[in-house]
Amino acid sequence: MSLITILEHPHPNLRKVAAEREAAAIADPAFQRLLDDMFETMYAAPGIGLAATQVDVMERFMVIDVTEDHEQPLVFINPVIRGRSADLRVHQEGCLSIPGIFADVTRADGIEVEALDRHGKPFTLAVDGLLATCIQHEVDHLDGKLFIDHLSPLKRERAMKKYEKLRRQA
Ligand code: NI
Repeated sequence: MSLITILEHPHPNLRKVAAEREAAAIADPAFQRLLDDMFETMYAAPGIGLAATQVDVMERFMVIDVTEDHEQPLVFINPVIRGRSADLRVHQEGCLSIPGIFADVTRADGIEVEALDRHGKPFTLAVDGLLATCIQHEVDHLDGKLFIDHLSPLKRERAMKKYEKLRRQA
């Protein structure tokens, strides 16, 4: 396995809308290796979610594990969020593509998501809390959206000033 370079904002490819992954191509050994490398990259960062667009692959899939001990690795291929609860949840989000920046984002507390697993098998998941927040954040990536897009213009401007300063220092 090997670590993959994560694209960082403002890389233009982070703004592209990803295309569906062909179901017939899921068994492809190179694709399976890529999923393993994405988990390794996410755990090493460390992070709890990584979308394909963040590693410069413009296809709709992502890996997630919100557990501390890496106990629940989840693969979502061609994920579709079918339902969102009226209840909202605020979470201080960060993103491996915008290192050093954290801000409160409000999203649905609960969601229902349909996807294919890493073997191409369809599944539906109804979840809430951190996992629901994380799934919504990663699906946003597949649509070319970043968590800073959810902030008010003033908060976004402040966050981006801080980000530019951090990048100058790096
Ligand atoms: Ni992110």
